[in-house]
Amino acid sequence: MAQRTYTPIGGIRNVVDFKAHVESLGLSIPCDSELESGESPLAQPIAFDGKQIGNRFCIHPMEGWDGTVDGRPTDATFRRWQHFGASGAKLIWGGEAVAVSHEGRANPNQLLINEHTKSELGLLRQTLVAAHHEACGSVDGLLVGLQLTHSGRFSRPNEKTKPAPRILYHHPFLDRRVSIDENYPVLTDGEIRSIIADFQGAARLAYELGFHFVDVKHCHGYLGHEFLSAHTRAGDYGGSFENRTRFLREVTAGIRSVAPGLQIGVRVSAFDGVPFFRGPNIEQGVGIPEPYQKVLPYRWGFGVDREHPEEYDLDEPVRFLSLLRELGIKLVNISGGSPYYNPHIQRPAIYPPSDGYQPPEDPLVGVARQMEVTRFLKQSFPDLILVGTGYTYLQEYLPLVAQAAVRAGWVDSIGLGRMVLSYPQLPLDVINGRVMQHKRICRTFSDCTTAPRNGLASGCYPLDEHYKQSAAGAQLKEIKARRRVS
Ligand SMILES: Cc1cc2nc3c(=O)[nH]c(=O)nc-3n(C[C@H](O)[C@H](O)[C@H](O)COP(=O)(O)O)c2cc1C
Ligand code: SF4
Repeated sequence: MAQRTYTPIGGIRNVVDFKAHVESLGLSIPCDSELESGESPLAQPIAFDGKQIGNRFCIHPMEGWDGTVDGRPTDATFRRWQHFGASGAKLIWGGEAVAVSHEGRANPNQLLINEHTKSELGLLRQTLVAAHHEACGSVDGLLVGLQLTHSGRFSRPNEKTKPAPRILYHHPFLDRRVSIDENYPVLTDGEIRSIIADFQGAARLAYELGFHFVDVKHCHGYLGHEFLSAHTRAGDYGGSFENRTRFLREVTAGIRSVAPGLQIGVRVSAFDGVPFFRGPNIEQGVGIPEPYQKVLPYRWGFGVDREHPEEYDLDEPVRFLSLLRELGIKLVNISGGSPYYNPHIQRPAIYPPSDGYQPPEDPLVGVARQMEVTRFLKQSFPDLILVGTGYTYLQEYLPLVAQAAVRAGWVDSIGLGRMVLSYPQLPLDVINGRVMQHKRICRTFSDCTTAPRNGLASGCYPLDEHYKQSAAGAQLKEIKARRRVS
């Protein structure tokens, strides 16, 4: 198979060429020709809970693998949250994934919420709010949430290299990726009830700390997401749609009982596909799907077509959003797939992380897929507030696409992930009509994923001097050079 090459966005000269490129790929991505000043759709507020969310930018949760072993933030964590606040985005979706228990941490440096870490998590929130005040002159319209997580199958609480999975069912392809076989125990219903109590306790602490909402994380292959695909699990939490969403309903009821004034949001992988892996060198390391043909109908996904599991199916995600509405949950952040098993779906990039695969499709296809799913769900649920994901790969054209998508009602709020690691001032620059800082634009080099996969803290190593100049930066360079040689 020949090496696939895709036109890098940074090489496209202007918006006319960008639109032509999108068209040549047969994609539907709305894009304005210029940014509006004054009444820009991106500067419009969103009504929520008797208040207003001040503009249409949202900072996605992004962890840095840089907490202490007992789950407290470090200087690097404070710096990141300060950047999130100073970005000018009025919706902060959780800061980063914060584990509700030690066993549920995705790495030994993930933040943890409990009585011992509480005061420092409060300082983290205050730092973000103060930075926002300094950058914007007020905190009017700022809504700050905390993302609560249990990492489930992808838990690694003790050693960076040692998975300690907490699974709901056995998976034909993902079990071996976390080094387990068919004898490995699944979580019991009793253990699940104890995790639900952990979420409830964590939400109470978040409420006491002044967070406006908590995100009960249901995305990216972690525990909440795994419930939604637990078709093959017996007992109260698997099988029927009702059982697979029992976790969400019980967590929600628990939170409402201990923190009645706290809002709840859900970040969900609303669509998915089969796991991919790096193909043999003969295929230039391009990602290929696991041999799902042997296990059809495919019963291990949520938002996945059972007969054609490389494609998504939104029937159940629509039911899920109906359930959110019934539960009074209005804030929904739409994501897809997982960084562990199909990152080209979850965070479109032209350069893969060191343990990843070359993109099996033009990354713009991934962006268009995320936008299309969100558009469909927004049309079906106009009363919910939907945040969209996957915009970073648009690079120079992100603001023009964002403006067009918000105006056309495809999405309410534009979520920013990697872009805000390299270029935190982007929302303020766009809203204030300033020229974009081209040298800060994320080019999807994936070092912020490669670093943690190699035991280092995450950050934007290529573009943020703080990481570029650090000891970890030198280590990362060596690791990448070694991989190129071998
Ligand atoms: C370094 C890094 C850390 C991340 N951590 C989280 C996290 O803690 N919680 C979460 O829901 N998503 C996390 N994500 C996913 C992002 O929130 C986002 O969905 C993804 O990067 C795609 O958006 P983008 O194209 O704007 O980067 C992380 C992504 C990166 C690159
Ligand atoms: S390391 Fe920096 S440039 Fe690379 S993907 Fe992450 S944020 Fe973007």
